[in-house]
Amino acid sequence: MCGIVGYIGGKRAIDFLLDGLTKLEYRGYDSAGVAVNCGDNIFVEKAVGRLDSLKQKLKNNLPLGNIGIGHTRWATHGRPSDTNAHPHSDCHGKFFVVHNGIIENYLKLKQDLTAKGHKFISDTDTEVVAHLLEESYHGDFLLAVRDVISKIEGSYSLVFMSKENPDVLICAKQDNPLVVGIGENENFVASDIPAIISYTRKTYILNDGEIAIVQKDSVQFVNRQGLPINKKIFNVTWNAAAAEKGGYEHFMLKEIHEQPKAVRNTISPHIKNNSIHFDELNWNADFLKNIDKIYIVACGTAYHAGLVGKFYIEKLVRKLVEVDLASEFRYRAPIVDENTLVIVVSQSGETSDTLAALKESKRLGAKTLAVTNVVGSSIAREAEFVIHTAAGPEIAVASTKAYTTQLILMFMLALYMAQISKTVSDSDAERLIEQLKKIPAQISETLSDVEPIKTFAQIYGFNDDVFYIGRSLDYCVALEGALKLKEISYIHAEAYAAGELKHGTLALIVEGVPVIALATQKSVYEKTLSNIKEVKARDAIVIGIAAEGDTSLSNYLDHVIFVPETDELLIPLLAVVPLQLLAYYAAITRGCDVDKPRNLAKSVTVE
Ligand code: F6R
Repeated sequence: MCGIVGYIGGKRAIDFLLDGLTKLEYRGYDSAGVAVNCGDNIFVEKAVGRLDSLKQKLKNNLPLGNIGIGHTRWATHGRPSDTNAHPHSDCHGKFFVVHNGIIENYLKLKQDLTAKGHKFISDTDTEVVAHLLEESYHGDFLLAVRDVISKIEGSYSLVFMSKENPDVLICAKQDNPLVVGIGENENFVASDIPAIISYTRKTYILNDGEIAIVQKDSVQFVNRQGLPINKKIFNVTWNAAAAEKGGYEHFMLKEIHEQPKAVRNTISPHIKNNSIHFDELNWNADFLKNIDKIYIVACGTAYHAGLVGKFYIEKLVRKLVEVDLASEFRYRAPIVDENTLVIVVSQSGETSDTLAALKESKRLGAKTLAVTNVVGSSIAREAEFVIHTAAGPEIAVASTKAYTTQLILMFMLALYMAQISKTVSDSDAERLIEQLKKIPAQISETLSDVEPIKTFAQIYGFNDDVFYIGRSLDYCVALEGALKLKEISYIHAEAYAAGELKHGTLALIVEGVPVIALATQKSVYEKTLSNIKEVKARDAIVIGIAAEGDTSLSNYLDHVIFVPETDELLIPLLAVVPLQLLAYYAAITRGCDVDKPRNLAKSVTVE
């Protein structure tokens, strides 16, 4: 959730640093800072708050140096402040460092360094790294960095700059992303590709334990022991426009409208001759026979996608699936062994809890499969098997296209497993694939008339509480709809399994309370309808979400939003769309910062 940038070359470093940090704003942060080596001095500026505050401070005082580092910080150790903002330095201003992650043994290191006379000015774990470097440095910058790395425990991506070594940046990575972008007589460093794609497409993606020595015309890699590593260049295929708003007012709206394409791109590599293929898995019947338990582990929206994935696998493959929040799973001694398949779902592929759950599952001997949107991400590299959603970069903090692509990928995964284990008939598989192929066009159809949703959002935008109800897969979608509304509009929203209402929550349903009722699941339709009548009888304002062709719901409700008809397993991909739009327009009505909601960050790389 913090952002790192670095530049070395022939141009003014500050221009890339500020631009790169701007491109990483979506990651969430509460302060920012830069350090630029100007030869006789190191120029440092920091500011709490948005990047604009830093730019304001720099306005008439832009440093001219050609090597520099920058950072956007999201507070973990120590409150957001100018002093706690990165870059951090040692006692004598010789070394500067920016850091993403957490140094777990920083307190012990700080005590030792303080005893040796080092003076600390911030509350951060990162400052320890700069002082350690000062302690380890005896004329060889790389040797000193390697010594620091051997002493710190925890997760990090680190970029070091040294006053005495003005021709090099040194970077190190463990459990946090870091890339080096290759330019002409200049090189770039960043925690994420969007920071550098408008400068270069040629990158090196660092692996854990790797150290990069970045000079203006060369990049070399060594491991912790100092042995050279040969790395392949990774060519980024995203175009710069894909990471920009493309005419929409917000990234979130753009990404909602990108869903037909994102879902189509996710589907197309896996359908051949009317059956589902995952060449990257290549599983067979024996492999599946040996799996007696499946966990799906994830956080937030990805967890909600996992809940839908459970339905898919249980229904089509007839294997028991448990869905767990990654932050719970890793600490509750899960029953996992070599006959367990653990599926982790993560858009970013960097979520700390999900990564830790994956590592724990591997340690316990499980087979692991990652469902992720980011090729080369930590989770993708850690898992035994990886399948990718093709959502493209998701910039808005609130996840939308990542969710729908996760659903479709898990649907195809379940169908793939069902084909192998012969738990689905050929004719059913064919019918489902036919329905699957229609989904992108049906999402477009769902997106074609947003006006009624805008109107509802204007009504709901001023309510303090909204309830979402549904049964079966509708309940899973209700959870996601409520999360969307909460996170971007700050309206209190709760989702309930409709059958649970009378066990407590019905007490909150009184005249005028808004309820969004999902009734797309044919198998439980009558049951849902009776729950809808229960809330309607208490004079709640109810908006229904139903499949086209449903002629009953309108008899009971004033407002019904219809989505195209499809198999009930696939309808969550359509039913979620009006809920995303409702959340978006409610947030707009309330004047909220849609793409950067308060207290939230796009990629949660700390626990
Ligand atoms: C909500 C949202 C978050 C993420 C969660 C997991 O809109 O985006 O709840 O889904 O932080 O992130 P990933 O999928 O990157 O692991």
